[in-house]
Amino acid sequence: MPTPLSIPLPGRPGDPDAALVLREMWTAPAMHRLTEANLDRLREFEHWAHAEQTLRSQQAYTRQQLLDWVDGRAVPMVIECDGELVGSVGARIDRWDNTAEIGCWIDAAHQGRGLVLRAMRRMVEHLFDDHLVARVEARTSAHNPRTRVLNERLGMLHEGTLRNASQVGTERHDVAVWSILRPA
Ligand SMILES: CC(C)(COP(=O)(O)OP(=O)(O)OC[C@H]1O[C@@H](n2cnc3c(N)ncnc32)[C@H](O)[C@@H]1OP(=O)(O)O)[C@@H](O)C(=O)NCCC(=O)NCCS
Repeated sequence: MPTPLSIPLPGRPGDPDAALVLREMWTAPAMHRLTEANLDRLREFEHWAHAEQTLRSQQAYTRQQLLDWVDGRAVPMVIECDGELVGSVGARIDRWDNTAEIGCWIDAAHQGRGLVLRAMRRMVEHLFDDHLVARVEARTSAHNPRTRVLNERLGMLHEGTLRNASQVGTERHDVAVWSILRPA
């Protein structure tokens, strides 16, 4: 494995060592295995998880995300904890509106440890400080209680709910729109 391009995640004393790592091609096999292992819970809320998951599709996604990163239109990162890849945090950037949309998921065994909060805080800071976006948005399934708590802890505002706006497998979901603005 090459030395990853990584940003350490600040934490409190006792928190596990963790970092945001650029989603380079070498991450694809591990992220494919992690996706497969979490597929049932991902399919509850993530529409993309309903597509067939293969190593090839993971590699294609990784390559496309990296090209978008080079163009300044995405920030594709994975969460590393104690040397292991345990989740995903990504952002899409709209250069015309100067906004970003973030998304995330984490392995079941690492859920509820505050890792996603640390990762998302650092990602939001990176988007404001280094990409100079004016607004960071999250669109999440309205009946996902963990994302509601996460977005509140990130200091996001729930702006409203788009009714029946997303197809997740065979179900329609209401989509909650959350945002945080770059501090003046
Ligand atoms: C949504 C999801 C990413 C949230 O992950 P998470 O692990 O719950 O989020 P956090 O990292 O913020 O963890 C918060 C929990 O860690 C606990 N925690 C432990 N140490 C902590 C610390 N230092 N700081 C903050 N929280 C800490 C909190 O008390 C909280 O526990 P609680 O849930 O019992 O209240 C995760 O549930 C997931 O991957 N779900 C499946 C996919 C999904 O829902 N996708 C939609 C995403 S838009």
